[in-house]
This record gives sequence, structure tokens and C-alpha cells, in this order.
Amino acid sequence: MEKIVWDQSFSVGVQKIDKQHKKLIDMINQLIDAENPSVRSEAVSDTLMDMTDYATYHFQAEEELMQEYQYPHLDRHHLQHMDFIRKTAELATDTVELQQTVPAELLSFLKNWLVSHILESDMRYKDFFDTKGGS
Ligand code: FEO
Repeated sequence: MEKIVWDQSFSVGVQKIDKQHKKLIDMINQLIDAENPSVRSEAVSDTLMDMTDYATYHFQAEEELMQEYQYPHLDRHHLQHMDFIRKTAELATDTVELQQTVPAELLSFLKNWLVSHILESDMRYKDFFDTKGGS
């Protein structure tokens, strides 16, 4: 599976958010990179858990910014964040319980969700924050 490559098209115009997105991408890339990633491998389990924790931290930071600038689509955006955490937790639990290798389904989900969320949903607040001077 090809790794995610961050380029300027991923920039939402807010430095601290771009930095957090880069870190999330790095964490997902680490999972993609791991050869035949087994959930028995402590490194892979830790990365999965760290990635979920960091995603939660990032979503909170992003939503606080939306609140501060009274972004009108905060509720809808929040639901998307919750959905990601729920789905990731479900897939990760299934994987750990069945003691399988990290399934391609989980890796594709993480990769596709993050890329489309940044490029479509997050990108919708770029112009809004620009006009509020939030960078
Ligand atoms: Fe950057 Fe909405 O997550």
C-alpha cells in the first residue's frame, strides 16, 4: 500500500493544524510501512493506540478553534470526528481480539478517511479561518 505524501494541497492555512495533520499522516505511514504488521507486535499495537489518542487530541484542538471562531458547521464536523474514533476503535478491537495481522481493511480505512477528511471536510474551513485571521 502506498504511503500518504503530505504536500501543500493538504494545507488548511493554520500552522498548528497542518503540523498535527502531518503527525497523524506519519503515524498512519508507520503502520503502512510495517512489514506484515502483527497486532502481537508491541510496536504496532502502540502505534495504533497512539494514533487514536493523537487523533482525539487533534480533533479537540480543531473543534476548539472552530468554537473560538464560531464556525457554522462545527456540529456536522464533530460527528465526522466521532465516527472516525468509533470505527477505528471497533476495527482495532476486532483485530486485537482475533489476533490477526493488521488487516488491509483497517489500513485502507485509516488512510482513505484521513486523506478525504483533510482534503474535503477540513478544507471547507480554510477560507473561513482565513477571513478571521486564524493562522
Ligand atoms: Fe483535521 Fe477535522 O480533522
